[in-house]
Amino acid sequence: MRNILISGASRGIGKAIALELLKKGHYLSLGVRKKENLINTPLDPKLNNPESFLVHRYDATDQNSSKLWVERTVKTFKNIDTIIHCAGILKKTNLIFNDNEIKDIEDIWKVNVMGPWILTKHAWKYLSLSNSARIIVLVSMSGKRSKGNLASYSMSKFALMSLCQTMRNEGWEKGIRVTAICPGWVNTDMAKEINNFPKKDMIQTNDIASICSNLLDLPNSSVPFEIAINCQLETIM
Ligand SMILES: NC(=O)c1ccc[n+]([C@@H]2O[C@H](COP(=O)([O-])OP(=O)(O)OC[C@H]3O[C@@H](n4cnc5c(N)ncnc54)[C@H](OP(=O)(O)O)[C@@H]3O)[C@@H](O)[C@H]2O)c1
Repeated sequence: MRNILISGASRGIGKAIALELLKKGHYLSLGVRKKENLINTPLDPKLNNPESFLVHRYDATDQNSSKLWVERTVKTFKNIDTIIHCAGILKKTNLIFNDNEIKDIEDIWKVNVMGPWILTKHAWKYLSLSNSARIIVLVSMSGKRSKGNLASYSMSKFALMSLCQTMRNEGWEKGIRVTAICPGWVNTDMAKEINNFPKKDMIQTNDIASICSNLLDLPNSSVPFEIAINCQLETIM
């Protein structure tokens, strides 16, 4: 069983992954902005064993919350051997953006890039002790190609992909394996405004959760660096 940090576990992909890994019996430490959102759900701390399940405040724009979350997890579980980075935001910023949209670009940079970077940095020494640690990052197809008018989102996801490559390089000798998951549209709140593609034909969160669960069963020698999953035909996988 693994000791796993999951960011963005309140909704969408992060929540589906948390539910799947809870079923599998892993030790889970969930980072969420508002703990009250989990009350009376299967991820309510009151309904789970405090020795193997905890929920901590985490805001990707607040470095201290990341540090405190890691410290609390190590205090409870003694170690961290897995991080699954799911927290993320999407803003539709055009290349030629309006002056009042500069904050959107700054926010997307802070949450989508600096968030995972800082959280990984805080947990790195613990990951390094395990010899078979895993980092799974929800990147996107937007980290592989730039499409439509998502300038700031795509910029952040290309940067996140680069961060994944660096984590892989620097973690390799320590047994840390990194997987960048690159989905097209996933049926969550993030994709709710997409009206030209049926929700039922989008990637479903449970399928990403199964992929993550299976990834955690693989030995150091067989962990894929990138998993691209698209629900639409494109020239890039
Ligand atoms: N949906 C898609 O089509 C799609 C496709 C490719 C990649 N992805 C990526 O997959 C990841 C998860 O997306 P999703 O579809 O599950 O999105 P979602 O349903 O909108 O959920 C986003 C999650 O991120 C959390 N979050 C947002 N801002 C945060 C902050 N400042 N600090 C900490 N947590 C924060 C949210 O928490 P709150 O509940 O507190 O807001 C929520 O748990 C993202 O990185 C996204 O870019 C999504």
